[in-house]
Amino acid sequence: MDFEMEDVPVCDVIYQPTEKAKYNAHLSSFDEYKKLYDESIRDPESFWKKMAHETLSWDIPFQKVSSGSFQDANIKWFEDGYLNACYNCVDRHANKNPNKVAIYWEGDQTSESRSISYLEMKNEICRLANYLESIGVKKGDCVAIYMPMIPEAVYAMLACVRIGAIHSVVFGGFSDEALKDRIIDAKCRVVITADEGVRGGKVIHLKNIVDQAIESVEFVKTVLVVKRTGEPSIQMKADRDVWYHEKVSTQSKDHKPVSMNSEDLLFILYTSGSTGKPKGVAHSTAGYLLYASLTFKYVFNYAENDIFGCMADVGWITGHSYVVYGPLCNGATIVLFDSTPFYPDASRYWQVVDKALRKAGDAFPLKYDLSSLRVLGSVGEPINPEAWQWYYDKIGRNKCALVDTYWQTETGGIVITPISSVTPTKPGAATLPFFGIEPALLDPHSGHEISGNGVCGVLAIKSPWPSITRTVYGDHERYKMTYFTQYPGYYFTGDSAARDSNGYYWIRGRVDDVINVSGHRLSTAEIENALINYPECAEAAVIGKPDEITGQSICVFCILRNPNIDKEKAKTDIIKQVRKSIGPIATPKSVYLVPDLPKTRSGKIMRRLLRKIVSGETNFGDLTTLSDPSIINKINIIVSQ
Ligand code: PRX
Repeated sequence: MDFEMEDVPVCDVIYQPTEKAKYNAHLSSFDEYKKLYDESIRDPESFWKKMAHETLSWDIPFQKVSSGSFQDANIKWFEDGYLNACYNCVDRHANKNPNKVAIYWEGDQTSESRSISYLEMKNEICRLANYLESIGVKKGDCVAIYMPMIPEAVYAMLACVRIGAIHSVVFGGFSDEALKDRIIDAKCRVVITADEGVRGGKVIHLKNIVDQAIESVEFVKTVLVVKRTGEPSIQMKADRDVWYHEKVSTQSKDHKPVSMNSEDLLFILYTSGSTGKPKGVAHSTAGYLLYASLTFKYVFNYAENDIFGCMADVGWITGHSYVVYGPLCNGATIVLFDSTPFYPDASRYWQVVDKALRKAGDAFPLKYDLSSLRVLGSVGEPINPEAWQWYYDKIGRNKCALVDTYWQTETGGIVITPISSVTPTKPGAATLPFFGIEPALLDPHSGHEISGNGVCGVLAIKSPWPSITRTVYGDHERYKMTYFTQYPGYYFTGDSAARDSNGYYWIRGRVDDVINVSGHRLSTAEIENALINYPECAEAAVIGKPDEITGQSICVFCILRNPNIDKEKAKTDIIKQVRKSIGPIATPKSVYLVPDLPKTRSGKIMRRLLRKIVSGETNFGDLTTLSDPSIINKINIIVSQ
């Protein structure tokens, strides 16, 4: 493995939970966390049985708590129980508090906003569920959702779940080719989209992109289109495309949710791995919902009338677990944000700690009354201590808890995190595991567990928890290979981490060929595959380059078939090609045209050396396996030009 051990952080700054963070706390002390955590590890069956009964409403209660192992990759939770996730997230709250606001929607323009009550949301979801059933969508079918952050996106997810269909939300920043691959992989017969999205004042032509994506995909029978902008030039294909407002509003607002087995799939979400095409990470109903709900409640210390704003897009797992399922399962009021941090200016999204935002100066957050905030969160990439401190001081005004939450699409919910009301925090540390999570640091080469504190290793988890992904959709072998084969008996995260002298975890980042650009997960292999479609490219290697604003940026090294062609044009074409195949989120920031790539004698590209070159390092370590050592110097000259 291409991995070098780093130093264990030493940090003397410890913040005790503030008075504000303790408001209405579910846990009264750090000791209570430790006691509950110990129970969850010592006797997981009793712990999760109690939590599942307290948290979820069951149609048929389960008898069996868990079964299966990482070795056999056959994990099941609450397998003889039946429930409906939409009922849990919507009906039970609509019955009790019909007028409570479920969604505050904030559109791209500051003037655009709406509130939707739990009862209104339930009625809308039922209408859509009835419509989907009327066109033949049934339990187990996959439905693709390619939408902006509008209330109908949440209705679409929950209407699928209500009728037992599996949703596959595709982020609106993916291209038609990426959307096509995902629609084909899950054999979606129905796509729900909008005419257009608007973000940061820019229009995203969602319906046109869907048209291109499914041009040759004959099994897509219906495209349901929400009118978001009302753009008159939208083309509707006869017998396939229908307007949401025409078809859905005429449906009945009554619908009986379909009772689902705990292990029936709830959704799939595509994510990049270190090899090949993106995989459909599949989550099952009860375990996922329970874990999303509980982490939401404890990590953010949710109290009855709180408004919870998670600014993630529903196209990512954070949007699934902490915009939709976790908060709604708790009956919370959510914020649905359909804009960007910088529109119309940097004050719009000040809640998110971001270097670019900090550069805009402190004046923006200081202008606003932030006194209602109790808990601040961070997710998706390592937060450095300076960013952490800025967020804590300037946004939290030293009164809020700051939780750096570590998790992955595959884990379904947060796995390493402070509990905002009780855990003392250190700037830059994800701190301690959530209930039921037993982390382990492994020696990357031997796979042996490294015990004690003050150590580094690759991060793994020792035993199954309710929301671990159950399979890669349509490819269970790939599931086994990706997560359970490299370190038998463990779930391998793909990240490395340090455990400091207090036993706190500090996440270091990926040790595989996954790169993280502004929290968006991309694989170098996927980008390299995209470049194969550019006819002038003979060979390419992609790496993540450290970037002050986005954490990492995409850096392409390409060998041209004909080195005499216009180099500037070639670079532009390379960028265009990646955007076409994957989408604007994968735009390369630097492109280097090189005569060759550093390879081992057996022809394997040594990306480690490319990473060193772009970060200006001069110590390349052992180069004896390199077939042509002179290439290092040649590339160095090109990079430094
Ligand atoms: O490398 C870790 C990083 O994001 C990866 C997971 O990406 P994704 O599945 O897209 O989910 C992102 C949101 C949960 C991880 O393997 N990551 C996530 N959270 C953190 C993090 N790195 C450091 N600190 C975090 N808090």
